[in-house]
Formats: sequence, C-alpha cells, structure tokens
Amino acid sequence: MSATTDRTDAPRVVLGVSGGIAAYKACELLRRLTESGHQVTVVPTAAALHFVGEATWAALSGRPAATETWESVHQVPHVRIGQQADLVVVAPATADLMARAAHGLADDLLTNTLLTARCPVVFAPAMHTEMWEHPATQENVATLRRRGAIVLEPAVGRLTGVDTGKGRLPEPSAIFEACRTVLRRGGLGTDLAGRHVVVSAGGTREPLDPVRFLGNRSSGKQGYALAATAAARGARVTLVSANAELPDPAGVDVVHVSTALQLREAALKAVADADAVVMAAAVADFRPAEYVTGKIKKVDGVEPAPVVLVRNPDVLAELSADRARPGQLVVGFAAETDDVLANGRAKLARKGCDLLVVNEVGERKGFGSDQNEAVVLGADGTETAVPVGPKEALADVVWDLVAARLA
Ligand code: CTP
Repeated sequence: MSATTDRTDAPRVVLGVSGGIAAYKACELLRRLTESGHQVTVVPTAAALHFVGEATWAALSGRPAATETWESVHQVPHVRIGQQADLVVVAPATADLMARAAHGLADDLLTNTLLTARCPVVFAPAMHTEMWEHPATQENVATLRRRGAIVLEPAVGRLTGVDTGKGRLPEPSAIFEACRTVLRRGGLGTDLAGRHVVVSAGGTREPLDPVRFLGNRSSGKQGYALAATAAARGARVTLVSANAELPDPAGVDVVHVSTALQLREAALKAVADADAVVMAAAVADFRPAEYVTGKIKKVDGVEPAPVVLVRNPDVLAELSADRARPGQLVVGFAAETDDVLANGRAKLARKGCDLLVVNEVGERKGFGSDQNEAVVLGADGTETAVPVGPKEALADVVWDLVAARLA
C-alpha cells in the first residue's frame, strides 16, 4: 500500500465501480479524490473490470483495487472495507447494481461493502434512458433513497452509441463536488430523503433587442449551493437556473431559463409535486415593454427612444398565494441595504412566503462573493441569524428550517 495515501486523518472513501462504459469516467473522479487528500479504495465489480482493468485502479489510487470477496480472507474484506469508510460512492451505478443494493444482495465485494457501510452512500447512476425510466429501476431508486442513500439524478445528454437522453453519468467534477458536500456534512444524514425541492438561481435577463438586455449582478452561487446541499441531504432537486455561468451540480435536474417569464413558467411546472420551493433567483421586476426584433441602430443627430418598462409578475408572491400542494413551503430571498430587519419583515408579509432570507448587501457583500451573511425570518415570528460564512453554510441553515417545518 502506498504511504502517501494512508495518512490516518485522510477521509476514507470507497469508490465502487459497476459495469458500464462510463467506468472510464470514474478514473477522473478517482484522480480528483486522491489529489485532494482522500484515501480511496476502489471496489470494481467483475463487469467493471471488463471496461477498466485492475492496474488502472491500483495506479490511480495508490493501493490495490479490492475485487474479490475470497481474497485476503483473513482480513475479512467483505466487512472491513465498508465498516471503515467515511463515504461510499458508486460511479457509475448501473441498473443491475442498484437493483442488487436495493434488495440487500451480497453476491460480490461491492454489494457486501454496501451492506456493511454505515457512512453516507452516494450512487451516481449511468444507463440508457429506458433502463432509468423503467418502473423496476425507479422503485429500486426510491427504496435506496428512502433508506437514506443519495441517488444523484443522471444527466441528460449523449449516451453510448447514437442515443441521447437522461441516463448519462454526471460529470466527474460534479460528482466530486457532491462527495465533498456529503463528507463536509459528515454523518448528519439525509433528512430531505423522499422530498422534492425546487430552487431558482441566477438573475434574469430581459431582452431589448437581439443583442441587448436588462440584467443584474446575481452570480447564482447561493442558489447553486442550495441545490447541491439539498441533494446531499437526500432530496430530489429541480434547479431553475437563469443565466448562471456555473457547472450543473451533480444529481440535480437543471432547467435553464433566461427571462422572468420563462423562469415563472419553469417554476410553476416544477412546483406541482414539490415539498418546498426556494426562490434565490434575482428576478427582474421590470422588462422592456417592447422587444425590437432587429438590432436597434444609432442614427447620427437623432436621440435614442426612451426604454419603456412594464412590470413582471412576482413569482414568489404567486407561488406563496397559490400553493401547488397543501403544506408546501415557500422561501424567498431579499437583498436590503438599510433597515434590514424592518424591511425584511414587511417584505415577508407582502410576499406571503413562510421564510425570507434577508441579506444585507453593500459594496463588498453578497453579489458574486463566496460568502454570505443573513438573517432568516419566519412567518411564525422566528428569526435565525446566520453569521458570515460560506454560501453552503447559509444553505444548510435554510434546509434545517425547511426540514423542521416539513417534519
Ligand atoms: N421575486 C420574484 N419575482 C419577481 C421579483 C422577485 O419571484 N418579479 C422573488 C425573488 O426570487 C426573491 C424575492 O422575490 O425571492 C426578492 O424580492 P425583491 O425583488 O427584493 O422584492 P421586491 O418586492 O421587488 O422588493 P424591492 O421593492 O425592495 O425591490
């Protein structure tokens, strides 16, 4: 075994690899995990070894790949590997592997490991769309999620051969980030398992003509942190993203939109079966009354025509007033510069939501930064202060408050 990867304080990760062509992408995930200081034991299934050989796993992890239940029996590998792990991630997780895991089979080293692991388990599925959508797979996924496993939603895109659709392995970088989020939370569990949550993020753009728009400075980072954190807590997540230049978080269904009207349409559709919706997007209150189909040209000696604006619908107020499901929780965001608490309370009442995350914005706070500071106001009179910290920490506080209210 390699000395460099065996630091006792390094988080111990088991990378399970099942037999799909996306196994080659697990090499990239493995590289990211080891380079960032994780001690990784790779447990490929026999089918996975048809795609990527043992030597590759051993070389990239710096330790022998664990392939056989009947090897080194004196070390009881079928129990020990799972027991000692801080995280088990299975990437790619095939339909067959998830079926075996859901039914508690233990017919190879990886399924034995899954039965003995008491740490968080993340499945990153990859398969053809038909297999993913099959009721058998969907029931197995629901079973795994109900038991607390995190099953990432597959990405949409090119599959093996000429097919495209849902079933693609999420990008290794995104799976890696998902693993980090889960490890950061430690054994805090998946209190949003079985829940569907909708998050809006980014800032809308309201077009004037084909090349110009009215926009805002929202980066989308807080909304993306909310989506990634909810996924790590076991939720099925739909992220309605407006112009955020950020990679799709792994395991999250992302709907890309641009304007406030598109965001409204996507949000209304997504909330139909949602337990909670968090409106973190900066939605433009106004849009140009008229969209000019050709580029507006300057004409020497002629003043430009003024831009007339009209109001956009208030999506948060609409979702709050007209809940798609009884008991659905609605969370809004507010950016205030002065009288933060008083303005926040008034806005909470005006919008009719259950929780309002009030940010104080200024020259150096809020937009574009990785840090946030806020107070979360509840319609029930509660007030939760969140000190300056990473956007993930604020996201966790929001989900704590949501989970408590859903329970
Ligand atoms: N929001 C929305 N639809 C809009 C505008 C805002 O859903 N057309 C949502 C945002 O997603 C966010 C909250 O409302 O959750 C932000 O409200 P804000 O824009 O600050 O509220 P306003 O009522 O526009 O406040 P102000 O008058 O301070 O601009």
